Amino acid sequence: MSNYKPGAYGRNYNYNYSSAPPRPAAVQPPPPGAQKSKHGYSTMSSIASGALATYNFNAPKRKIRTEEEYFDSDGEGEEGQSGAGMAYIPAPGSPSASDRRRAGGGSASAAKDDSDSEEDTLDAFMASIEQQAGKGKGGKASAKKPPAKGVRDDIEGEDDHESFFRYMEENPNAGTHNDESDQEIEYDAEGNPIVPVKSKYIDPLPPIDHTQLKYEDFVKNFYIEPDDIGALSLLEIDQLRHKLGIKVSGPLPARPVTSFAHFGFDESLMKAIRKMEYTQPTPIQSQAVPVALGGRDVIGIAKTGSGKTAAFLWPMLVHIMDQPELRPGDGPIGLVLAPTRELSQQIYSEAKRFGKVYNIHVVCCYGGGSKWEQSKALEAGAEIVVATPGRMIDMIKMKATNLLRVTYLVMDEADKMFNMGFEPQVRSICDHVRPDRQTLLFSATFKKRVERLARDVLTDPVRIVQ
Ligand SMILES: Nc1ncnc2c1ncn2[C@@H]1O[C@H](COP(=O)(O)OP(=O)(O)OP(=O)(O)O)[C@@H](O)[C@H]1O
Ligand SMILES: [Mg+2]
Repeated sequence: MSNYKPGAYGRNYNYNYSSAPPRPAAVQPPPPGAQKSKHGYSTMSSIASGALATYNFNAPKRKIRTEEEYFDSDGEGEEGQSGAGMAYIPAPGSPSASDRRRAGGGSASAAKDDSDSEEDTLDAFMASIEQQAGKGKGGKASAKKPPAKGVRDDIEGEDDHESFFRYMEENPNAGTHNDESDQEIEYDAEGNPIVPVKSKYIDPLPPIDHTQLKYEDFVKNFYIEPDDIGALSLLEIDQLRHKLGIKVSGPLPARPVTSFAHFGFDESLMKAIRKMEYTQPTPIQSQAVPVALGGRDVIGIAKTGSGKTAAFLWPMLVHIMDQPELRPGDGPIGLVLAPTRELSQQIYSEAKRFGKVYNIHVVCCYGGGSKWEQSKALEAGAEIVVATPGRMIDMIKMKATNLLRVTYLVMDEADKMFNMGFEPQVRSICDHVRPDRQTLLFSATFKKRVERLARDVLTDPVRIVQ
């Protein structure tokens, strides 16, 4: 048995450790009544019989072997298959060791003589102890592993679960909807989506020198104060404003009115208003329409649903109807800027409803809509354009339209528009419109800071608050 190598049992051992359930410790207490050597060690045969009594080898090719049988057998392959529980424990100086040494087949002497192995007797003893205890992977390889390399990759290293949890800790937003590209759309109180902040990065229009441009003269003032309103005393006017719940400031504002008849609209527009079943002007309309018809700039602040849209649309129609018809290549006469697509579409449908009375064309331009379609509609010509600021700038840059004929400029939801970062764009559009235009600004609320900004684009405005 010169080919025996201590600790080599596991080399050919077929047991799959990685997938197997934990095994019982291989070291078995000596069975009761086990034979003891005179040095106090249990003899090999007694250990083997005790261990094998409880051990279940998966492929027991060999029957229980005694120490003698083991060393008498040939072939290394067999060693591995049956030897896991059979490690030889040579006690230094034990009679069995010296016997084997004498016989030339002892493991201790074999180990010593073997050029492959540098283990001394003590090492071999420790290795076999370890192997018996099932700590190593059952062979020379693990027994010989230097302690520095004794790292269990399967325990010390990160497994799939651990790396997943570490990643989730380092990236708390990983896998959430708002991860990267999908920016969530926010909605304001009225359910209109708030345009993402990036919109403000649309380049405003470059400055323009109006002195180099030749503008046609135009008429602003179409308002003739009705006799019964003119007959009212200042106190009665104050009382009327109080009754309507409106406050007015600014130089020489027109008086408020109490009926549609006071606006002086022609029959076709009156018919359209009657068709809408409006019985009388809303408070903001009662005051803002006479002021706007008079050609004055307006700041109109009135709560949601108070009829602001019509308050700037009706005077706009009168204003447009006084001007020469559009020629090919002309831009709009009335321009309405609104902060969102939804709002511009609402204004658009109301403008169309009243505009068709005079066969006035309206075009709506907003971000997200087809630029090509919008530019074609603009090129076809429209007296009124309702637009979000960014898209309006795009259209002007594309030369789909121009602002040369704009004389009536409206900013609806002006507060929002200035607040949402559209200010540079709105301002650049206003700067592109002839300075003597009429400008109207409507909003449900108006913060002081924003109103101060907005006033730059107005001239002597009449401020109406409902
Ligand atoms: N004189 C009127 N009489 C009755 N209803 C009117 C009158 N004028 C407008 N309306 C209607 O009131 C509703 C609200 O009008 P509008 O959309 O102009 O309000 P708004 O002040 O602009 O509100 P928001 O702040 O929500 O834009 C519309 O359906 C409109 O048709
Ligand atoms: Mg409105």
